Amino acid sequence: MSAIWLDCDPGHDDAMAIILAAYSANLLGISTSAGNQTIHKTTRNAIRVLSAIGKSYIPVVKGQAAPLIRPSMVCAEIHGESGLDGLNDKPLFDEVDISHIQGPAPPVMYEQIRRYFYLTGQKVRLVGTGCLTNIALLLVLYPDVKSMIDISIMGGAIGIGNISPSAEFNILLDPEAAKIVFESGVDLVMIPLEVTHTALVTNEVLQKIGNSTPFTAKICELLNYFRKNYKEVFDFADPPLHDPLAIAYVLRPDLFTGRSMRVDIETQSDYSYGRTICDVWNKSTMKKNCWVATKVELDGFWDLMIQAVELADSR
Ligand code: BDR
Ligand code: CA
Repeated sequence: MSAIWLDCDPGHDDAMAIILAAYSANLLGISTSAGNQTIHKTTRNAIRVLSAIGKSYIPVVKGQAAPLIRPSMVCAEIHGESGLDGLNDKPLFDEVDISHIQGPAPPVMYEQIRRYFYLTGQKVRLVGTGCLTNIALLLVLYPDVKSMIDISIMGGAIGIGNISPSAEFNILLDPEAAKIVFESGVDLVMIPLEVTHTALVTNEVLQKIGNSTPFTAKICELLNYFRKNYKEVFDFADPPLHDPLAIAYVLRPDLFTGRSMRVDIETQSDYSYGRTICDVWNKSTMKKNCWVATKVELDGFWDLMIQAVELADSR
Protein backbone atom coordinates (compact mmCIF):
# COMPACT_ATOMS: atom_id res chain seq x y z
CA MET A 1 0.00 0.00 0.00
CA SER A 2 1.41 3.43 -0.96
CA ALA A 3 2.46 5.73 1.87
CA ILE A 4 1.25 9.25 1.13
CA TRP A 5 1.98 12.61 2.71
CA LEU A 6 -0.72 15.07 1.58
CA ASP A 7 -0.12 18.83 1.42
CA CYS A 8 -3.50 20.50 0.85
CA ASP A 9 -5.75 23.54 1.37
CA PRO A 10 -9.24 22.13 2.08
CA GLY A 11 -11.31 23.20 0.16
CA HIS A 12 -14.12 20.96 -1.19
CA ASP A 13 -12.05 18.94 -3.66
CA ASP A 14 -9.16 18.75 -1.17
CA ALA A 15 -11.63 17.26 1.33
CA MET A 16 -12.44 14.53 -1.21
CA ALA A 17 -8.69 13.99 -1.73
CA ILE A 18 -8.30 13.49 2.03
CA ILE A 19 -11.09 10.87 2.00
CA LEU A 20 -9.53 9.06 -0.96
CA ALA A 21 -6.04 9.04 0.60
CA ALA A 22 -7.23 8.10 4.09
CA TYR A 23 -9.30 5.14 2.87
CA SER A 24 -7.20 3.86 -0.05
CA ALA A 25 -3.59 4.37 1.08
CA ASN A 26 -1.40 4.65 4.14
CA LEU A 27 -1.88 8.38 4.80
CA LEU A 28 1.13 9.29 6.97
CA GLY A 29 0.01 12.84 7.61
CA ILE A 30 -1.29 16.12 6.26
CA SER A 31 0.35 19.53 6.02
CA THR A 32 -1.93 22.44 5.27
CA SER A 33 -1.40 25.36 2.95
CA ALA A 34 -3.12 28.70 2.56
CA GLY A 35 -5.06 29.01 -0.67
CA ASN A 36 -8.72 28.17 -0.87
CA GLN A 37 -8.88 30.00 2.46
CA THR A 38 -6.47 31.30 5.10
CA ILE A 39 -4.10 28.87 6.79
CA HIS A 40 -6.16 28.94 9.98
CA LYS A 41 -9.31 27.95 8.08
CA THR A 42 -7.74 25.28 5.85
CA THR A 43 -6.09 23.72 8.92
CA ARG A 44 -9.40 23.69 10.77
CA ASN A 45 -11.05 22.11 7.73
CA ALA A 46 -8.43 19.35 7.48
CA ILE A 47 -9.14 18.44 11.12
CA ARG A 48 -12.88 18.67 10.53
CA VAL A 49 -12.70 16.22 7.62
CA LEU A 50 -10.47 13.75 9.48
CA SER A 51 -12.82 13.88 12.46
CA ALA A 52 -15.90 13.34 10.23
CA ILE A 53 -14.34 10.24 8.67
CA GLY A 54 -13.03 8.69 11.90
CA LYS A 55 -9.36 9.34 11.12
CA SER A 56 -8.48 11.93 13.76
CA TYR A 57 -5.32 10.00 14.64
CA ILE A 58 -3.70 11.04 11.33
CA PRO A 59 -1.24 13.84 12.17
CA VAL A 60 -1.86 17.34 10.82
CA VAL A 61 0.71 20.14 10.77
CA LYS A 62 -0.02 23.76 9.99
CA GLY A 63 1.81 25.06 6.93
CA GLN A 64 2.97 28.49 5.78
CA ALA A 65 0.46 31.31 6.11
CA ALA A 66 1.72 33.10 2.98
CA PRO A 67 3.60 32.47 -0.27
CA LEU A 68 7.37 32.98 -0.51
CA ILE A 69 7.20 36.37 -2.24
CA ARG A 70 3.83 37.42 -3.59
CA PRO A 71 0.84 38.44 -1.43
CA SER A 72 -1.63 35.71 -0.50
CA MET A 73 -5.12 35.31 -1.95
CA VAL A 74 -8.12 33.11 -1.13
CA CYS A 75 -10.93 31.55 -3.16
CA ALA A 76 -14.10 32.23 -1.18
CA GLU A 77 -16.15 32.45 -4.39
CA ILE A 78 -15.75 28.68 -4.84
CA HIS A 79 -15.17 27.37 -1.29
CA GLY A 80 -17.09 29.88 0.87
CA GLU A 81 -16.05 31.93 3.90
CA SER A 82 -15.03 28.88 5.94
CA GLY A 83 -13.28 27.27 2.95
CA LEU A 84 -15.61 24.29 3.34
CA ASP A 85 -19.13 25.72 3.33
CA GLY A 86 -22.37 23.81 2.82
CA LEU A 87 -25.55 24.88 1.12
CA ASN A 88 -26.65 27.16 4.00
CA ASP A 89 -23.26 28.96 3.74
CA LYS A 90 -22.18 27.44 7.06
CA PRO A 91 -19.23 25.04 7.56
CA LEU A 92 -20.19 21.54 6.41
CA PHE A 93 -18.61 19.58 9.25
CA ASP A 94 -18.70 19.97 13.04
CA GLU A 95 -16.52 22.52 14.81
CA VAL A 96 -13.19 21.22 16.10
CA ASP A 97 -10.46 22.43 18.42
CA ILE A 98 -7.25 23.23 16.57
CA SER A 99 -5.39 25.03 19.37
CA HIS A 100 -2.92 22.12 19.59
CA ILE A 101 -2.02 22.20 15.87
CA GLN A 102 1.32 23.88 15.29
CA GLY A 103 3.72 24.69 12.45
CA PRO A 104 6.02 25.09 10.75
CA ALA A 105 5.39 22.15 8.45
CA PRO A 106 8.73 21.41 6.71
CA PRO A 107 10.60 20.00 9.76
CA VAL A 108 7.65 17.76 10.63
CA MET A 109 7.25 16.60 7.02
CA TYR A 110 10.98 15.86 6.88
CA GLU A 111 11.01 13.83 10.09
CA GLN A 112 7.97 11.76 9.10
CA ILE A 113 9.26 11.13 5.59
CA ARG A 114 12.75 10.25 6.81
CA ARG A 115 11.43 7.85 9.45
CA TYR A 116 9.21 6.03 6.94
CA PHE A 117 11.98 5.88 4.33
CA TYR A 118 14.56 4.43 6.72
CA LEU A 119 12.12 1.94 8.27
CA THR A 120 10.78 0.58 4.97
CA GLY A 121 13.28 1.54 2.27
CA GLN A 122 10.29 2.83 0.29
CA LYS A 123 9.80 6.35 -1.03
CA VAL A 124 6.99 8.47 0.40
CA ARG A 125 4.56 9.67 -2.24
CA LEU A 126 4.25 13.40 -1.58
CA VAL A 127 0.99 14.73 -3.01
CA GLY A 128 0.31 18.47 -3.36
CA THR A 129 -3.21 19.77 -3.93
CA GLY A 130 -2.63 23.39 -2.96
CA CYS A 131 0.15 25.93 -3.49
CA LEU A 132 3.68 24.55 -3.40
CA THR A 133 5.09 26.73 -0.60
CA ASN A 134 5.53 23.99 2.04
CA ILE A 135 6.97 21.53 -0.47
CA ALA A 136 9.44 24.10 -1.85
CA LEU A 137 10.65 24.91 1.67
CA LEU A 138 10.99 21.20 2.45
CA LEU A 139 13.21 20.73 -0.61
CA VAL A 140 15.35 23.81 0.11
CA LEU A 141 15.80 23.21 3.85
CA TYR A 142 16.30 19.43 3.66
CA PRO A 143 17.78 18.64 0.23
CA ASP A 144 18.51 15.02 1.21
CA VAL A 145 14.73 14.46 1.25
CA LYS A 146 14.85 14.41 -2.57
CA SER A 147 15.96 10.78 -2.58
CA MET A 148 13.12 9.80 -0.21
CA ILE A 149 10.12 11.09 -2.16
CA ASP A 150 8.38 11.47 -5.43
CA ILE A 151 5.79 14.17 -6.00
CA SER A 152 2.36 14.20 -7.61
CA ILE A 153 0.57 17.53 -7.85
CA MET A 154 -2.78 18.80 -8.99
CA GLY A 155 -1.82 22.07 -10.58
CA GLY A 156 -0.97 23.90 -13.74
CA ALA A 157 -2.38 23.71 -17.22
CA ILE A 158 -0.95 22.83 -20.61
CA GLY A 159 -3.03 25.63 -22.10
CA ILE A 160 -5.29 28.17 -20.48
CA GLY A 161 -5.59 28.88 -16.76
CA ASN A 162 -8.52 29.19 -14.39
CA ILE A 163 -7.45 32.12 -12.19
CA SER A 164 -5.84 34.20 -14.94
CA PRO A 165 -5.86 33.59 -18.71
CA SER A 166 -2.48 31.87 -18.28
CA ALA A 167 -2.31 30.43 -14.80
CA GLU A 168 -3.97 27.73 -12.75
CA PHE A 169 -4.86 28.69 -9.15
CA ASN A 170 -2.43 26.45 -7.20
CA ILE A 171 0.55 27.60 -9.27
CA LEU A 172 -0.40 31.30 -9.29
CA LEU A 173 -0.74 31.20 -5.49
CA ASP A 174 3.05 30.84 -5.27
CA PRO A 175 4.87 30.71 -8.63
CA GLU A 176 8.31 31.09 -7.04
CA ALA A 177 7.67 28.02 -4.87
CA ALA A 178 6.41 26.12 -7.91
CA LYS A 179 9.62 27.03 -9.77
CA ILE A 180 11.70 25.54 -6.95
CA VAL A 181 9.68 22.31 -7.03
CA PHE A 182 9.75 21.96 -10.83
CA GLU A 183 13.50 22.59 -10.92
CA SER A 184 14.29 20.32 -7.95
CA GLY A 185 15.10 17.19 -9.95
CA VAL A 186 12.60 15.11 -7.93
CA ASP A 187 10.37 12.72 -9.93
CA LEU A 188 7.35 14.92 -10.56
CA VAL A 189 3.89 14.24 -11.94
CA MET A 190 1.55 17.08 -12.85
CA ILE A 191 -2.20 16.57 -13.21
CA PRO A 192 -3.24 19.69 -15.13
CA LEU A 193 -6.62 21.36 -15.67
CA GLU A 194 -7.00 19.61 -19.04
CA VAL A 195 -7.35 16.32 -17.14
CA THR A 196 -9.21 17.51 -14.04
CA HIS A 197 -11.78 19.25 -16.25
CA THR A 198 -12.85 15.82 -17.49
CA ALA A 199 -13.56 14.45 -13.98
CA LEU A 200 -16.94 16.10 -13.60
CA VAL A 201 -19.34 15.54 -10.71
CA THR A 202 -22.36 14.61 -12.84
CA ASN A 203 -25.81 13.62 -11.58
CA GLU A 204 -24.82 10.05 -12.29
CA VAL A 205 -21.84 10.37 -9.91
CA LEU A 206 -24.09 11.90 -7.24
CA GLN A 207 -26.57 9.06 -7.68
CA LYS A 208 -23.81 6.49 -7.26
CA ILE A 209 -22.74 8.13 -3.99
CA GLY A 210 -26.39 8.28 -2.92
CA ASN A 211 -27.56 10.26 0.12
CA SER A 212 -29.15 7.55 2.21
CA THR A 213 -26.92 8.01 5.28
CA PRO A 214 -25.95 11.17 7.21
CA PHE A 215 -22.38 10.90 5.86
CA THR A 216 -23.25 10.39 2.20
CA ALA A 217 -25.84 13.19 2.50
CA LYS A 218 -23.01 15.47 3.71
CA ILE A 219 -20.81 14.43 0.79
CA CYS A 220 -23.65 15.18 -1.65
CA GLU A 221 -24.13 18.57 0.01
CA LEU A 222 -20.39 19.25 -0.32
CA LEU A 223 -20.47 18.36 -4.01
CA ASN A 224 -23.68 20.29 -4.67
CA TYR A 225 -22.26 23.43 -3.02
CA PHE A 226 -19.18 23.05 -5.24
CA ARG A 227 -21.47 22.61 -8.25
CA LYS A 228 -23.49 25.76 -7.40
CA ASN A 229 -20.35 27.91 -7.25
CA TYR A 230 -18.74 26.40 -10.35
CA LYS A 231 -21.95 27.21 -12.22
CA GLU A 232 -21.91 30.82 -10.97
CA VAL A 233 -18.19 31.50 -11.48
CA PHE A 234 -17.32 29.39 -14.56
CA ASP A 235 -20.75 28.47 -15.99
CA PHE A 236 -19.87 24.76 -15.70
CA ALA A 237 -22.96 22.54 -15.50
CA ASP A 238 -20.96 19.96 -13.51
CA PRO A 239 -17.91 20.85 -11.41
CA PRO A 240 -14.46 19.30 -11.95
CA LEU A 241 -13.23 17.37 -8.91
CA HIS A 242 -9.59 18.40 -9.34
CA ASP A 243 -7.64 17.28 -6.30
CA PRO A 244 -8.42 13.56 -5.81
CA LEU A 245 -6.86 12.94 -9.24
CA ALA A 246 -3.38 13.61 -7.81
CA ILE A 247 -4.05 10.88 -5.22
CA ALA A 248 -5.58 8.59 -7.86
CA TYR A 249 -2.35 8.81 -9.86
CA VAL A 250 -0.43 7.40 -6.89
CA LEU A 251 -2.97 4.61 -6.39
CA ARG A 252 -3.53 3.67 -10.03
CA PRO A 253 -1.01 5.22 -12.46
CA ASP A 254 -2.32 2.83 -15.11
CA LEU A 255 -5.52 4.92 -15.28
CA PHE A 256 -3.55 7.87 -16.68
CA THR A 257 -2.08 8.69 -20.09
CA GLY A 258 0.63 11.33 -20.39
CA ARG A 259 4.26 11.96 -21.16
CA SER A 260 7.49 13.43 -19.90
CA MET A 261 8.35 16.92 -20.98
CA ARG A 262 10.09 20.11 -19.92
CA VAL A 263 7.82 22.31 -17.82
CA ASP A 264 8.93 25.76 -16.69
CA ILE A 265 7.15 28.18 -14.39
CA GLU A 266 6.80 31.76 -15.59
CA THR A 267 7.83 34.17 -12.82
CA GLN A 268 8.77 37.26 -14.88
CA SER A 269 5.92 38.20 -17.16
CA ASP A 270 3.02 40.50 -16.25
CA TYR A 271 0.66 38.65 -18.55
CA SER A 272 1.56 35.04 -17.90
CA TYR A 273 2.84 35.07 -14.32
CA GLY A 274 2.30 31.60 -12.84
CA ARG A 275 1.92 29.83 -16.15
CA THR A 276 3.20 26.26 -16.46
CA ILE A 277 5.00 26.39 -19.81
CA CYS A 278 4.73 22.84 -21.13
CA ASP A 279 7.05 21.81 -23.95
CA VAL A 280 4.45 19.64 -25.66
CA TRP A 281 6.33 19.48 -28.98
CA ASN A 282 9.76 18.75 -27.55
CA LYS A 283 11.31 22.07 -28.59
CA SER A 284 13.29 22.76 -25.44
CA THR A 285 16.91 21.72 -25.10
CA MET A 286 16.50 21.63 -21.33
CA LYS A 287 16.14 18.38 -19.42
CA LYS A 288 12.63 16.92 -19.17
CA ASN A 289 11.53 17.47 -15.59
CA CYS A 290 7.88 16.44 -15.34
CA TRP A 291 5.45 13.73 -16.39
CA VAL A 292 2.31 15.58 -17.47
CA ALA A 293 -0.99 13.71 -17.53
CA THR A 294 -3.12 14.24 -20.62
CA LYS A 295 -6.00 11.82 -19.97
CA VAL A 296 -7.59 9.76 -17.20
CA GLU A 297 -9.79 6.69 -17.47
CA LEU A 298 -12.86 8.13 -15.76
CA ASP A 299 -14.77 4.98 -14.75
CA GLY A 300 -11.67 3.73 -12.94
CA PHE A 301 -11.21 7.07 -11.17
CA TRP A 302 -14.82 7.30 -10.01
CA ASP A 303 -14.75 3.68 -8.81
CA LEU A 304 -11.78 4.58 -6.57
CA MET A 305 -13.43 7.75 -5.28
CA ILE A 306 -16.83 6.20 -4.62
CA GLN A 307 -15.33 3.15 -2.95
CA ALA A 308 -13.41 5.42 -0.55
CA VAL A 309 -16.64 7.29 0.32
CA GLU A 310 -18.38 3.96 0.93
CA LEU A 311 -15.57 2.79 3.21
CA ALA A 312 -15.65 6.07 5.15
CA ASP A 313 -19.42 5.71 5.46
CA SER A 314 -19.38 2.11 6.68
CA ARG A 315 -16.53 2.45 9.20
C1 BDR B 1 -7.27 23.96 -7.66
O1 BDR B 1 -7.62 25.20 -7.06
C2 BDR B 1 -8.29 25.00 -5.84
O2 BDR B 1 -9.33 25.91 -5.67
C3 BDR B 1 -8.76 23.56 -5.87
O3 BDR B 1 -8.83 23.04 -4.55
C4 BDR B 1 -7.73 22.87 -6.71
O4 BDR B 1 -6.65 22.44 -5.92
C5 BDR B 1 -7.87 23.92 -9.04
O5 BDR B 1 -7.34 24.92 -9.82
CA1 CA C 1 -6.76 22.40 -3.50
